[in-house]
Amino acid sequence: MVSTQARLLAVILVFISSSSSSSHAQIIPRVTFPLDSPGRPFTIFSLPDVSNTTTLLLSADEETLFVGARDAILSLSISKSGSLQLNKKIDWSPTESNVKECSMKGTDKADCWNFVRVLQVLNSTHMFACGTFAFSPLCSYISSETFSLVTNPSGKPEEGRGRCPYNPYHKNTAITVDGELYTATVADYRGNHPVISRHLSEGDHVDMKLDDTQGWLEEPTFISSTHIQSEGKVYFFFSELGREYEFIEKFTVSRVAQVCTSDVGGQRTLQRRWTTFTKAQLLCKANGELPYNVLQDMTTLRPAEGDSDDNTLFYGIFSSQWSGNSGRSAVCVFNLKTVKAAFAGSYKQLNRDTLKWSSRRQEKIANPGECGLHNASDTALRFIKENFLADQSVSPGSQGPALVSSDRRYSNIAAQRVEGAGGQKYTVLYLLTESGFLHKAVLVEGRAHIIEEIQVLRQPQRVRSLLLSVSQGAVLVGSSEGVASVPVSSCSHYRTCAECVLARDPFCAWDSTHQVCALVSSIKDQAGQDVEGGNVSKVCSSFTTLLPRGRSIATNASPSVQHVPVSLDEVVHLCCTSESQLARLHWERLGGELSSIIYFEKDLNLSFLATPRTLGRYACKATENDFTQTLGVYDVVQKEVSTLQPPSTSTPTRIPEIPEIDPTTPAMVEETPEAPDDEEEEKQPEMNPEKTTPRMSVTKVMLGSGHDAPADGSINMLQRDNGVSYLKELVAVSVLLAMCICALVLLAAYILRLSFHSRTAPHLPWLRRDTATTEGGTDQERASLKGESPQQEKQKSPFDSKSMSNGSNGHLPNIPI
Ligand SMILES: *[C@@H]1O[C@H](CO)[C@@H](O)[C@H](O)[C@H]1NC(C)=O
Ligand SMILES: *[C@@H]1O[C@H](CO)[C@@H](O)[C@H](O)[C@H]1NC(C)=O
Ligand SMILES: *[C@@H]1O[C@H](CO)[C@@H](O)[C@H](O)[C@H]1NC(C)=O
Repeated sequence: MVSTQARLLAVILVFISSSSSSSHAQIIPRVTFPLDSPGRPFTIFSLPDVSNTTTLLLSADEETLFVGARDAILSLSISKSGSLQLNKKIDWSPTESNVKECSMKGTDKADCWNFVRVLQVLNSTHMFACGTFAFSPLCSYISSETFSLVTNPSGKPEEGRGRCPYNPYHKNTAITVDGELYTATVADYRGNHPVISRHLSEGDHVDMKLDDTQGWLEEPTFISSTHIQSEGKVYFFFSELGREYEFIEKFTVSRVAQVCTSDVGGQRTLQRRWTTFTKAQLLCKANGELPYNVLQDMTTLRPAEGDSDDNTLFYGIFSSQWSGNSGRSAVCVFNLKTVKAAFAGSYKQLNRDTLKWSSRRQEKIANPGECGLHNASDTALRFIKENFLADQSVSPGSQGPALVSSDRRYSNIAAQRVEGAGGQKYTVLYLLTESGFLHKAVLVEGRAHIIEEIQVLRQPQRVRSLLLSVSQGAVLVGSSEGVASVPVSSCSHYRTCAECVLARDPFCAWDSTHQVCALVSSIKDQAGQDVEGGNVSKVCSSFTTLLPRGRSIATNASPSVQHVPVSLDEVVHLCCTSESQLARLHWERLGGELSSIIYFEKDLNLSFLATPRTLGRYACKATENDFTQTLGVYDVVQKEVSTLQPPSTSTPTRIPEIPEIDPTTPAMVEETPEAPDDEEEEKQPEMNPEKTTPRMSVTKVMLGSGHDAPADGSINMLQRDNGVSYLKELVAVSVLLAMCICALVLLAAYILRLSFHSRTAPHLPWLRRDTATTEGGTDQERASLKGESPQQEKQKSPFDSKSMSNGSNGHLPNIPI
């Protein structure tokens, strides 16, 4: 036990010492689609009279989606196009007396409805549903044929307690195996009584639950459950307090727990109670960081066909309870093999009297977690009651988290195996952020690439269900805003081979025959794709259409040239945008240089003064994965000579020869021309001359600090963004800071001096005399120095802060400044 503590302490120290170092590069979604953006359409189903459509269930054929809502259950049909259509609706409301009782208990009236929290298909003829029923949970059978509630033959309503939470905000999970319902939920009003149980069992197979004694579960939050047929086990995922870490208070740990479906309880000990319940810690941790200890969601990815069940993967989203990691999420993947290994290993022992854990090895009387313990001896079952927490935790392997997001909090996850153009398999993750964005990420060699993010919710909220229908190619999100059905991909959005390849979307490839970016499965012949590298030149070189779609309709030609008529002396702004947030943008002047003396780039916009020298062609280019493409070409030409502003006379004097400018003199600022007249401003809506004047001076400062334009005539955006343009401000701030520090140092010196003085006065009244005399000088001596009589001095309390500060005032003139 002591060694465990020491070990843990060491681990914690390691966490603390290294928690500040973060090894994760920020993962930016390549493309963002805000709500209602035409580039990535999806369906939202909602009905005016149905809200909180949050519990989702797919039928086995994935053609029907069942939705548990507030006071209603819906049956929707999913069509290939991704649309959702209402088949039927069941109204299921609490009675008036239920609601009355609910609000009398002091519950918010807004929660006194029937929120459906369990929705399962039992067998070919029946479904089963449970709802909170105004804080008095209730269940019911549903006839699949008529899609209506059916009472059971006895006419008694089905008990909801232990199957469904009372409070709609308490989390629960449920799963059906062979017509039996396995649930994990809290079974009381306050949520203090967690239980993992089996219901609807028949014959020898009795209903089961966790033994009532304490210690099995510690304030758990249930997340999800899954059934592994070949193991004959149901696995539950949850987080709870890690009581085995007894010297850290309220330390949350994530767990996987298991029960055997064959379990029927002990014969005397543990009658009708699980004899096969065991649990193990799930450890999601990156090197040198605090663990991501709080499980948020867990999904099961079944092994590829023909692969062993041991390769079943569990993808979990974890957050951290520590502020060092707050706001971050990590995705960790565990495989069934390591889960099984943890359960097959040794177990910690719970002292049932003190409820304390130890790793002391007992003589092994039974194998905890082994199926078939139901008719084991009482001694064996008593051993089981004390040994159900695996000693080893389950880790994601040496690689650590598959993905860490430093700024998004993920709440829900789904995973899918996708076959790429070359037949390679990729894992695609769908991650919902708490702010309502769906991220689609592909894992390549242990690294994540976020292909796109799609806003699916208007309001940030906790979503209960995120489902994936592989056969329909849709991600289904159940929220209070309705049910969203988002197609897994939208290849046609990428209109050139380059864009199709840069996306690195395993669903999409370039169809060279039809010259479109299309679903891999729909391409007959040559399909161009490079999910690993997004290498355009490798994939697209055989095709002639490397250039992207321009700003106009042209899809396969180079971007059309935009003419920008300007007057001389006018400030010209050219803008450049790229859909890809991974691209680096830069400007080039065709046949010329972009000297940073006269060109200024801000937010990817190029600004400059129109002069005969600066007229010409400009191209905005994007570089991604070593591939550079032109996003737009502007032809800046002189306007028909305007009668308002004859520019020719003033120009030569206003723009001096560039090499002669001393970048440190403010000449350029003063030389900045007047704002163009209103007429021109109308035609160039992005123009903002008032703002431009100071910007021009910023450009000059940048120049002074030695950033010359590169030889190829382009200005590297990254270089420019390094903050050098704020040199002046930096100097000013530095000087101020230095002054502040000087002042502080002086103050500190002074306080030190004061405290030296005050320390000579003893702080403990009963010691006062003695101490005072042992130090250099008596009361009388010091008092006489101050011109006080010893009597006066004695009356002053050393604890009186006022007297101290008075004294300090008296000394102020002595401070050497
Ligand atoms: C139901 O939906 C409303 C918004 O429509 C939301 O405020 C409320 O929290 C939801 N209730 C539950 C229990 O999810
Ligand atoms: C399905 O389950 C219900 C409820 O337990 C039962 O009445 C019905 O007979 C079952 N149907 C089949 C086909 O087993
Ligand atoms: C254990 O229980 C099974 C039935 O579940 C029974 O067939 C078997 O004989 C029992 N074994 C022992 C040793 O009691």
